[in-house]
Amino acid sequence: MTLVVTGGAGYVGSVCARHLLDAGHDVVVVDDLTTGHRDAVPDGARLVVGDVAEVADEVLGAGGVDGVVHCAARSLVGESTEQPAKYWHGNVVTTVALLDALRRHDVPRLVFSSSAATYGEPESSPIPEDAPTRPTNTYGATKLAVDLAIADYAAASGGALGAVSLRYFNVAGAHTATTGATGVPTDPDGRAPLRSVSLGERHTVETHLIPLVLQVALGQREEIAVYGDDWPTPDGTCVRDYIHIDDLAEAHLLALDVLARGEAPAGGHLVCNLGNGTGFSVLEVIEACRRVTGHPIPTRTAPRRAGDPGVLVASSARARDLLGWKPAHTDLDGIVADAWAFARSRA
Ligand code: UFG
Repeated sequence: MTLVVTGGAGYVGSVCARHLLDAGHDVVVVDDLTTGHRDAVPDGARLVVGDVAEVADEVLGAGGVDGVVHCAARSLVGESTEQPAKYWHGNVVTTVALLDALRRHDVPRLVFSSSAATYGEPESSPIPEDAPTRPTNTYGATKLAVDLAIADYAAASGGALGAVSLRYFNVAGAHTATTGATGVPTDPDGRAPLRSVSLGERHTVETHLIPLVLQVALGQREEIAVYGDDWPTPDGTCVRDYIHIDDLAEAHLLALDVLARGEAPAGGHLVCNLGNGTGFSVLEVIEACRRVTGHPIPTRTAPRRAGDPGVLVASSARARDLLGWKPAHTDLDGIVADAWAFARSRA
């Protein structure tokens, strides 16, 4: 298939593009490079630099596009509350323009990067897709608004548009490949395959727990602040469901396959959570980072962060049943080890 990946120079988009290329698809990346990196666009993908809404007609109007994987977004929870316009425009207005372009150019498939932030503080755990959606921050509200817009466009299309919203929980780790895989250089001496860690988290403003903890291990920061130790959880710190970026990317391929087979549900829009179904506390994540890096990683207790829910763990039963998704990386130390290899490769 010929697939457009918006945000394909970012963390999630670049790894999705890599997996699509490895599966034999043609990939066009659309990215304005405001937060993405040109050198993260995988070899073999064509890059169109521009705002999604502005270049959608040019890219989709050329014809022959079988689907769009829409990862481009503003994604900082704290910033979203301070600068809501940036999020309502960047996430919602842009995506509605993309939906209009999909309709104009008869593009039949869309896979959207949605978020666990659509649920807000859950009533029970693990969270199924039919749990109430009460986002606690602007970022989550914009992701929910887009899910609703996609549902309407798909329903009104009379079967012309099939769509899957994937609600990511805490994405972590880095994409790993061995020599010989597409785009990975071969070992010049022909010895044991080199392990190449090529694509990982590289945010200019880093807010995510694992990369921040690894910055301590690299000596780039003194300590890690633990946001609250009085949450109603076993050790008092927040619990999250960490999912490996390669497993996340695979779910996008499976979603495209389901859509290509015409298996989207009535209404043409499917929402699926993506998580491992196991929660780890902030202290457990820090302990895993200590095991993997061998660094003591000092901590400091800080006040709770605004907008944080205490526990976010996915029920991914639907993704497993309907997409046939089976995450391969369920071991937290393994996820951290990949993130650590990537962090060291960039240090
Ligand atoms: N945390 C700390 N110290 C830090 C950074 C984070 O204690 O320096 C804690 C947070 O309070 C949270 C946990 O570590 O309890 C994980 O925080 P992240 O920022 O890594 O991830 P979030 O759970 O806040 O965010 C993720 C996604 C968002 C999504 C959100 C849903 O990255 O895109 O889940 O709530 F919106």
